[in-house]
Amino acid sequence: MHLKFGSYPVVVASSAEMAVEFLKSHDQIFATRPPHAAGKYTAYNYNDVLWAPYGPHWRQGRKIYQNELFSSKRLESFEYIRVEEMWAFVSRLYGLSGKPVVLIEHLTRLTLMSLQELQEIISEFFFLHGVFNIGDWIPWLDFLDLQGYIKRMKTLKKKLDRFHDHVFDEHKRKKKELGKDFVAQDMVDLLLQLADGPDLDVKLTYDAVRGLTPDLVSGGTDTMAVTVEWVISELMKQPHLITKATQELDRVIGRERWVQERDISQLPYLDAIMKETMRKHSVAPLLAPHMAMEDCKGRSFELLPFGAGRRMCPGYNLGLKMIQLSIANLLQAFNWKLPGNIKVEDLSMEEAPGITAPRKFPLVAVLEPRLPLHLYEL
Ligand code: HEM
Repeated sequence: MHLKFGSYPVVVASSAEMAVEFLKSHDQIFATRPPHAAGKYTAYNYNDVLWAPYGPHWRQGRKIYQNELFSSKRLESFEYIRVEEMWAFVSRLYGLSGKPVVLIEHLTRLTLMSLQELQEIISEFFFLHGVFNIGDWIPWLDFLDLQGYIKRMKTLKKKLDRFHDHVFDEHKRKKKELGKDFVAQDMVDLLLQLADGPDLDVKLTYDAVRGLTPDLVSGGTDTMAVTVEWVISELMKQPHLITKATQELDRVIGRERWVQERDISQLPYLDAIMKETMRKHSVAPLLAPHMAMEDCKGRSFELLPFGAGRRMCPGYNLGLKMIQLSIANLLQAFNWKLPGNIKVEDLSMEEAPGITAPRKFPLVAVLEPRLPLHLYEL
């Protein structure tokens, strides 16, 4: 489909065949991003990976993600953090048994912990990265900032600076305290280590570390929370699927221990539920915009929740792990009911408009523990 957005021609690839054309046959030509006010003001002048133009900085960022942050070895070494967070998440929900719970609020806390200000920063970040800013498409109107988005982006950038300074100072302080006993504990430690080290082809500046951090925080929060909320919504709409999924969990894991990451490969029914939900409710149905670098006249491209080709999501491994583990734990831990007199037919499945596709109305559910109670106690 050909459209014209302001001064720019835009093509929407809305079939599997067209996706192959853009993301496989002509992947390299379409591997850059259009310039974008959000990338300029809130991603440290495209010093991230998401909005970075195709080139040496982007290539190095991807290499760092692939080799340092999302390698199988690294993900394995951070498993204990995911286990602790999952445990805290299930315990919090257990404490709310029998009361109506707004699931998405707790899911966001699972991926972002409890920092209220950071949650606000991330929602503003997502909002501003998804807006249709007139100046991006009609450049001669840019200076007027007709919608006030640029002003909001500049304010957000100041908040991000404060947040980064705080996080970096904390990490550096801990490193200094531990001296030679210091071992990188998380992704920020690793990025700072790379910035201070001599080993990279392109110098990793502190602004680049600042740019990469929101990639990780934003990429890793809403996407997963929104997907898990859709999975549980689909299951509550079709309760026979919950019965089948919990039968699988009981058969493979039993009722005397919690499901763990190493069990996931033995839960094909659960995997199918996740994939089908991601097909029906892709978190980023339009991916992120790609831009052609020159004029230009597969495998299954029907399911692309993470995109494909050079710009494919680098965090898909972590994303899948967290989604699978969250669904498995939520189904193992609780029976799910709609509150009060709400009937399954009344459960809305409407999506909110925007660049991401969350539920229009947050899912509210009443949870009851389904495993022996001693398992929920610390
Ligand atoms: C449910 C989980 C996730 C989904 C559905 C998802 C989806 C996507 C999509 C559709 C894109 C754009 C692909 C394109 O433009 O062709 C993308 C890019 C990206 N994602 Fe994810 N993502 C998820 C999790 C994560 C996580 C956990 C991280 C990091 C912690 C992450 C970091 C990124 C980054 C940095 C990019 C930009 C890649 C580039 O431009 O080269 N994502 N993701």
